[in-house]
Amino acid sequence: MIEAYYKSSNNDFLLAYGDTFQLLKNFSFKFDMIFADPPYFLSNGGISLQSGKVVCVNKGDWDKGKTPEEMNEFNLEWLRLCRDKLKDNGTIWVSGTYHNIFSVANCLTKLGYKILNVITWQKTNPPINISCRFFTYSTEFIVWARKNQKVSHKYNYELMKRLNDNKQMTDVWRLPAIGRWEKSCGKHPTQKPLSLLTRIILACTDKGDWIFDPFSGSSTTGIAANLCNRKFAGIEQSEEFCAMSKARREEIEDVRQRMNLMHHIVDFKTLEANKQFSLFDDVNGNTSCEGDYGLYGDLPFDTKPE
Ligand SMILES: C[S@@+](CC[C@H](N)C(=O)[O-])C[C@H]1O[C@@H](n2cnc3c(N)ncnc32)[C@H](O)[C@@H]1O
Repeated sequence: MIEAYYKSSNNDFLLAYGDTFQLLKNFSFKFDMIFADPPYFLSNGGISLQSGKVVCVNKGDWDKGKTPEEMNEFNLEWLRLCRDKLKDNGTIWVSGTYHNIFSVANCLTKLGYKILNVITWQKTNPPINISCRFFTYSTEFIVWARKNQKVSHKYNYELMKRLNDNKQMTDVWRLPAIGRWEKSCGKHPTQKPLSLLTRIILACTDKGDWIFDPFSGSSTTGIAANLCNRKFAGIEQSEEFCAMSKARREEIEDVRQRMNLMHHIVDFKTLEANKQFSLFDDVNGNTSCEGDYGLYGDLPFDTKPE
């Protein structure tokens, strides 16, 4: 059993500090869903434009380039460890760009996962391309796969349809890149937007489900999970980002801060505008009994009382 770096008071948010390759071997919990935003291995000294300034795009040592063989080995190992942590009907979502996503898809197939969709996230406000020698990079991909070839997975079809003007939701999602409003607890160089994670979580989980993120960063997955009344466990190797995650989770203890975030999230706004959802209700239509669902039952790690 591993000790949590941070545990929320109602046990709906657990974070472990350390190396995912080591820690994943030390607990045997099974999750309903995994989201992973692994290193894309593209920190090779490139440049970009941010707020009118030329900046280096290096994200950190953890994102430094690897050979294709090293990248495959890395992806194969963490995806193998994660498959063991999924329930039989569980699904995994993995984000990437062309740098890593083909390796991820190959490894998923090799390990026996069944690929369900590849979502194209089209950023409505992408950064400009300063070299003017390529098309602007405005997309990222998220592979959605289930653990088992034969065991059926959850998909909240009707909810996804409601979010798309009563038409079937497609695999191209037009959502904004990260906003300033979601950086109130500090900056992570590759922080994902809450609107993206909320859509993913609503698509394939129910209230009270457990969601895991092996490369948590600032724990966007955990914040989106808790805003949707789901439970979260994550692993992050940087203490700085663990501290940022804790601050983000503490921020939403304050109801006004929580509402403020929810008012910015695209799918919550759509449901509220259609009068199909009050921010005090569970998005699946039940009246919220927020706070009591996380306290009981088994936890992925850290069973010790505080
Ligand atoms: C792409 S970022 C994730 C960002 C996250 N989705 C967010 O919204 O903040 C990847 C994270 O994985 C962490 N990481 C990389 N290798 C790791 C490992 N072996 N074990 C645990 N964390 C790792 C990095 O420190 C980094 O914060």
